Amino acid sequence: MLDPESEPPCPERPDPPAPEDAAVRAYYDDLAARYDEVRFTRSSYGQYLDRLERVALARALAAARPGPVLDLACGTGRLLDLATHGLDASESMLTRARARWPDKPLVAADAERTPFEDRSFEAVLCLHLLMHLGRSKIARVLRECRRILRPGGRLVLDFPSALRRRLRGPPPRGWHGATALSPEELMALSGPGFELVGVDGLMLLPVHRLPAWLRLPLLPLDRLLCRGPLARLASFQLVELRARTCGS
Ligand SMILES: C[S@@+](CC[C@H](N)C(=O)[O-])C[C@H]1O[C@@H](n2cnc3c(N)ncnc32)[C@H](O)[C@@H]1O
Repeated sequence: MLDPESEPPCPERPDPPAPEDAAVRAYYDDLAARYDEVRFTRSSYGQYLDRLERVALARALAAARPGPVLDLACGTGRLLDLATHGLDASESMLTRARARWPDKPLVAADAERTPFEDRSFEAVLCLHLLMHLGRSKIARVLRECRRILRPGGRLVLDFPSALRRRLRGPPPRGWHGATALSPEELMALSGPGFELVGVDGLMLLPVHRLPAWLRLPLLPLDRLLCRGPLARLASFQLVELRARTCGS
């Protein structure tokens, strides 16, 4: 698998054309059996990212009211301990998630057309999905999130940082997880249905360039650096949005 973080910088190029939904789904159908191992359990880079995400997610979700939580694009269920429901476009990813979380309702659907009723959830978390989508699709997914969230509910999502992308150069050709954004661009795509609550940076240190044994010990430093103005330079931006109540 191509790791966009392992590529050397090269001159700035705009985002590549939006990937086809079917191509992304096929990619994950094919990767499903190896996803956890390749991306997380056997990768010190993945373990590092998983820990950073959990700290940031816990902070963001602490503000949500108790109630149903959807993991949108739940994949193999890595983060389903934080959610009551899951959804993913890839049946093969869901097969793994169902084996892991047999008691949770997990549905196969596209993130822009979910089967849930209006105002079903107090929170939606959505990790590592937007990078796979073109901008118009991201806008449709955000609209769908607004529909299924209760007023005041939280949407917590992440995307690669556009600022870091400008400094480092684009990911390798052929990698379809190539959409990078700034929080301002995300808000422009979200329309008036959401307000921005907070932005957290994830992975400021160039972890892929550090020896594996040094990565986890440096994690607290990464968290510390990401609390200040350097957050925008981190690899990923984790953004917390609040669904506006009517008229707010
Ligand atoms: C990188 S994985 C992330 C999985 C999980 N959120 C995590 O962080 O481990 C991306 C997931 O998005 C799913 N996905 C891609 N496009 C989707 C879409 N349009 N609607 C729903 N899920 C989609 C893929 O099937 C895959 O499981």
